[in-house]
Amino acid sequence: MKPFICGNWKMHKTVEEALSLVKELLVILPHTVYEKVDVAVAPSFTNLYPVYQVISGTPVALSAQNVYFEKEGAFTGEVSVDMLKSAGCSYCIVGHSERRRIFGETDEWVNLKVRALKDAGLIPILCVGETLEERESGKTLEVIERQLNSALEGVDIRGADELVVAYEPVWAIGTGKVATPSQAQEVHAFIRQILEGLYKDLAKDIRLLYGGSVKPDNVSGLVKERDIDGALVGGASLKAQDFAAIVINTLEVV
Ligand code: 13P
Repeated sequence: MKPFICGNWKMHKTVEEALSLVKELLVILPHTVYEKVDVAVAPSFTNLYPVYQVISGTPVALSAQNVYFEKEGAFTGEVSVDMLKSAGCSYCIVGHSERRRIFGETDEWVNLKVRALKDAGLIPILCVGETLEERESGKTLEVIERQLNSALEGVDIRGADELVVAYEPVWAIGTGKVATPSQAQEVHAFIRQILEGLYKDLAKDIRLLYGGSVKPDNVSGLVKERDIDGALVGGASLKAQDFAAIVINTLEVV
């Protein structure tokens, strides 16, 4: 399967900084990488369209970090799927643990967002992951199963490329504590199994990304695993050199 590397810039970068980051990335990444690895960046809302104007016509895709599920209306501060589409997005991250934990997003909301994105033809990058406490009390798989089943309730897909799932253990995000390849693979295999229950034959080709302290020096160990099809990169995606090194190191093992 062609791996996918997406940089989640979170709440970083002004317009100027975002433009210089993406321009630098385009210069550093050799054109041949895109034949073997799909690449996307996920800037903040204010940077989506400016970044799109730079990457439009290149193989780098644009992702949003969040969306609201209503079509339009009096929802001050929110952004709709059609707005994301018109700003050039093809992907949108949904259910990131920072949204669940800091902004109180529920499984039900995550499901509504996934549905709204699917209806608009945008590809959700659905994030799931357990906290340290949940892992230590042996609840990892139970949490993952609940998050997946509720986020994907009533969601049909016709092709494996209509959905991306990211496993992001909360204890590995921004902590420098990356999951070992075998820890991640165990959960990824379980995610694949749940997706098989939902989407039958399509499941084997749905891309499953790992996220949580991915760096140039640990990405190859992760993507070598059978069910790890790429990475959702936070901190290391903020420096063009590091992000490019992650893409290149991925390419070397596929
Ligand atoms: P870090 O790579 O900074 O740990 O963040 C991971 C993440 O949350 C990506 O969505």
